[in-house]
Amino acid sequence: MCVIKNSLGQSHDIIMKVVKEGDHVIDATAGNGNDTAFLASLVGPSGRVYAFDIQEPAIENTRRRIRERGFEERVVLIKDGHQNMDLYVQEKVSAVMFNLGYLPGGDHSIQTRGQTTIAAINKSMELLKKGGLITVVVYYGGDSGFDEKNQIMEYIKTIDFRRFTVMKTEFPNQPNCPPILICIEKLFP
Ligand SMILES: C[S@@+](CC[C@H](N)C(=O)[O-])C[C@H]1O[C@@H](n2cnc3c(N)ncnc32)[C@H](O)[C@@H]1O
Repeated sequence: MCVIKNSLGQSHDIIMKVVKEGDHVIDATAGNGNDTAFLASLVGPSGRVYAFDIQEPAIENTRRRIRERGFEERVVLIKDGHQNMDLYVQEKVSAVMFNLGYLPGGDHSIQTRGQTTIAAINKSMELLKKGGLITVVVYYGGDSGFDEKNQIMEYIKTIDFRRFTVMKTEFPNQPNCPPILICIEKLFP
């Protein structure tokens, strides 16, 4: 096992430091349900995971995954865009995970987009409690994801440094556009 993990592995490691049993958290891109199940395991039976996706196959895959793990009671599945998360989540949350791009094994034309992703990150920053964390794994390469990546990279430079610490990973010697992890930690409400 390597010490330096890829962006997805690093997102899980840092989320584990922040999320405690009983917390409420958001999976902004449910997909095949891996991150939803991961978050559900961290919040325990008294916690709650709000999981968003815009497409039915992703909601169904996530439903199956959480049923297999016995996590139905602690997960709220929402078929809507993460840019509308404030319509469903009223309380403060300790973490929001974004895993961008398209559903693996699904329709590649249904993918996250810069404008809606940035709107959702903005809403996540307001829903976060002090000390809470947003992780965004950005996929780009081939013919997709470049516009979204460029928009997000410009956007994160504008986040108020007095309220949030922002960090991003780089793997400068890796070929083929390795995914980038962005972390946003809330310092002040
Ligand atoms: C890379 S997959 C997520 C993988 C997932 N986290 C997992 O663990 O399996 C990206 C997902 O984002 C979803 N998506 C695209 N636009 C969205 C939006 N505006 N709101 C919520 N989900 C969206 C896609 O349908 C796709 O299922």
